Amino acid sequence: MKVTFITRDGQRVEAEAEPGANLLEIAQAAGMPLEGTCEGQMACSTCHVIVAPEWFPLLPEASEEEEDMLDLAAEVARTSRLSCQIAVSETLDGIEVRIPGASHDAQAF
Ligand code: FES
Repeated sequence: MKVTFITRDGQRVEAEAEPGANLLEIAQAAGMPLEGTCEGQMACSTCHVIVAPEWFPLLPEASEEEEDMLDLAAEVARTSRLSCQIAVSETLDGIEVRIPGASHDAQAF
């Protein structure tokens, strides 16, 4: 299945993913600058992504902990999620996700 990432400069990057994989890992494998500092413990918000609105309703709902963490993220949008909390499934084949501008990797940029 495929996941498309939209980088901060508007480039589309397609990644191959196995169903069940975690969106944060897929993004990192595709070279996206998401730090994911806490490795999925919901103790940071450096894995924040903005999901394309047409895909957002297909995602499992965010937990309260995720919502609380998102409140602290920069550039939060209505369709923001923590990528470490999303396991992709066949229904999400083709999902588009944008990397928010405020997340940056000093080495890559
Ligand atoms: Fe820290 Fe997702 S990696 S909340």
